[in-house]
Amino acid sequence: MTDRLTLALTKGRILKETLPLLARAGIEPLEDVHSSRKLVFPTTRDDLQLIIIRGSDVPTYVRHGVAQLGVVGKDILLEHGAEGLYEPLDLGIARCRLMTAGPTGWRGGKARVRVATKFVNIARRHFAARGVHAELIKLYGAMELAPMMDLADLIVDIVDTGNTLRANGMEPLEEIAAISSRLVVNKAAMRSSHRRIQPLVDQLASLVEGG
Ligand code: PRP
Repeated sequence: MTDRLTLALTKGRILKETLPLLARAGIEPLEDVHSSRKLVFPTTRDDLQLIIIRGSDVPTYVRHGVAQLGVVGKDILLEHGAEGLYEPLDLGIARCRLMTAGPTGWRGGKARVRVATKFVNIARRHFAARGVHAELIKLYGAMELAPMMDLADLIVDIVDTGNTLRANGMEPLEEIAAISSRLVVNKAAMRSSHRRIQPLVDQLASLVEGG
């Protein structure tokens, strides 16, 4: 079926928390998404399939319109931009905070700080807005290690419980943004397939509001 809608999701918390919401909207994958190595999953709605991809790839798939819809963290939208996307719904799931963090007791005072992060664009904007000269060091994970190994002074990372920071002798400093997962829709598809997409957005919105 060529006019099937595709919804892009990400393994982990987004998938775990989005599937129950979709189930309440009558959309269930036909096989167990968690145990399968497949990337494409037909659902109980034969006009809608799921694809499971990396979070940072969701805006790309949706921007190109090969997935008309996606669920993605606000952190990724802030970092990679939301060009070509509508963001009609805050799903209120996978909530966390994007923060600067440093070694416990860190006082700063240097003319220039070294900041390790995978969110280089967000970090650049954050420190520039404060007039702080930041040298950004791009990492792909385990940011907490960077200050410990003296690769960086600070990090910019996702904080949920704060356990990862504490376990590595660090503390949160400043909140940059409150994060949650958003439903995103390709702008052109929203126009061309409005009659199919809008009811789905409305249905998910009422489920989210109803709690
Ligand atoms: C995030 C983040 C921290 C951790 C914070 O990583 O990078 O490491 O969660 O959570 P906490 O405050 O509850 O300890 P995640 O597990 O999402 O994996 P990632 O490194 O692949 O992003």
